[in-house]
Amino acid sequence: MHINEIIRKRRATPPKFMTKENIEKKVIEQMLENANWAPNHKKTEPWRFQVFTGDAKEKLADDIYCLLDEKIKKGTAIHPQKAADLRENIKRVPVVIVISMQRDEAKRLPEWEEIAAVSIAVQNMWLTATEMGLGAFWASPQFLPLLNEVLNIHHGQMAMGFFYVGKTAMDYPSPGRGPVDSKVEWK
Ligand SMILES: Cc1cc2nc3c(=O)[nH]c(=O)nc-3n(C[C@H](O)[C@H](O)[C@H](O)COP(=O)(O)O)c2cc1C
Repeated sequence: MHINEIIRKRRATPPKFMTKENIEKKVIEQMLENANWAPNHKKTEPWRFQVFTGDAKEKLADDIYCLLDEKIKKGTAIHPQKAADLRENIKRVPVVIVISMQRDEAKRLPEWEEIAAVSIAVQNMWLTATEMGLGAFWASPQFLPLLNEVLNIHHGQMAMGFFYVGKTAMDYPSPGRGPVDSKVEWK
């Protein structure tokens, strides 16, 4: 596919539009390899990925749900349906990649630059998935910062969400975009 086509075809495909069919490890490795080529300032390479499949993914879904359920019972404002949906989504898709940002120890850069670099790495994965005919989805639940322990997010890291990958059961329609002209000023 031509780069223009890949960019236009990339979709946020919700998990319920994905099949449970396994994805070959080498396909995920290719996505991660391309992620690793993202631009970054001062060679910090701040992207970190934890890939969950099979039993580890089941455990992740259950551990997160248990923790959220405990917090809900203790009065934390988390919508119970959102907690249940996250568990279901993690179980539904064949591959879940936990995305995080590793902050440069010396803090030589503003945080936003590290977040930007991770986001570009994710886009590289997403475009690679599109080119290989796979669906993907970046989920960033509001309660993400509460999950640090269960997601094994160390000091100096920031969780940036869940990246679901799977074969698409059917194409998901594009929400489209407003015209680029309204976002650009030519001087
Ligand atoms: C950083 C980031 C986080 C996102 N988190 C969510 C999310 O939690 N839930 C959701 O429905 N979509 C999420 N999305 C996906 C957007 O909803 C999606 O990209 C948008 O609807 C446009 O659809 P398209 O990507 O298929 O063009 C996220 C996208 C980005 C870039």
